[in-house]
Amino acid sequence: MGPSRNAPCWCGSGKKLKRCHLDRARLVRPAVRIGAVRPERAVPEGIARPHYVLDGTVWPPPEAQVLSGEALERMRHACRVAAEVLAETVAAVGVGVTTDELDAVAHEAYVTRGAYPSTLGYHDYPKSICTSVNEVLCHGIPDDRPLQDGDIVNVDVTAFVDGMHGDTSATVGVGTIAPELAVLIDTTRDATLAGIANIRPGEPMQRVAEAVTSVAKDRGYGVVSEYGGHGIGEVFHADPHIHHTITSRDRAVAVPGLCLTVEPMLRTGAPRFTTADDGWTEVLDDGMPSAQFEHTVVVTGTGAEILTVLADGTSAVSPAGSVHAPAG
Ligand code: MF3
Ligand code: CO
Ligand code: CO
Repeated sequence: MGPSRNAPCWCGSGKKLKRCHLDRARLVRPAVRIGAVRPERAVPEGIARPHYVLDGTVWPPPEAQVLSGEALERMRHACRVAAEVLAETVAAVGVGVTTDELDAVAHEAYVTRGAYPSTLGYHDYPKSICTSVNEVLCHGIPDDRPLQDGDIVNVDVTAFVDGMHGDTSATVGVGTIAPELAVLIDTTRDATLAGIANIRPGEPMQRVAEAVTSVAKDRGYGVVSEYGGHGIGEVFHADPHIHHTITSRDRAVAVPGLCLTVEPMLRTGAPRFTTADDGWTEVLDDGMPSAQFEHTVVVTGTGAEILTVLADGTSAVSPAGSVHAPAG
């Protein structure tokens, strides 16, 4: 059962739900059951590990990653690999497929490319990707729950190869999804690409938040403020923190060569969420679905270039033929 028609609307308008966003109640699906997690998958010994897997006790300062020359070439490669792993994994999504089976597909895709799954052993995270279904906001752990017709799932891939991390995610529908969920997914993709397109060297990183929040607000969604993007390169989560909502605390400026992620989460319901007993899975309290996309980009002399793309410039974030595919 959805919320009462006379309840105040989740969007904070002060109006009754029936006079405001009643249709959104349709989006609530049976609560995602968190399932059993299989033991960690092995990575061949020849594949280089990130520092935290080798020595979990030493965490160097998360310095901003400003890359050029051969370091930027290695970064391009890691990001290409991440885009390839994401594309292969998303292609395996289907009704009845468990998220652990998606983890297996991703794991194989990383290791065949000589890459280490950055999340495996990161602060003791046990899996090679994150899979966040419906009202799971982020950091869902792949488990034995089969995907159901009408679910939406975010697959988040991070590859460590040639000493660099590349980070990218996409949300896709399972089987036939409600049209409202397709709009949520498309809007979240639009917000992500608009945030990236608004980056300018020498200007505040807040330009990302300005574009993301404006796309989300136009279509009636909230933007999650507790999670943001991050600098990335030799370090998985580096400075600066990339806000997706407007805040006076953000002093970061875009400089050419800076590598970072843009990864907004848009929600259809209220902001509150709670961490599940597994210590990772963030679940929205009202059970309303959310979506997320993520690209790793590098600031250029004129804007930002998306690095997490396939050889043809497309990706699972902006598939070929999509009207949202970035030019060039
Ligand atoms: N890939 C996520 C990000 O976009 C981070 C996942 S960390 C994990 O930053 F430990 F939860 F896997
Ligand atoms: Co990220
Ligand atoms: Co990610």
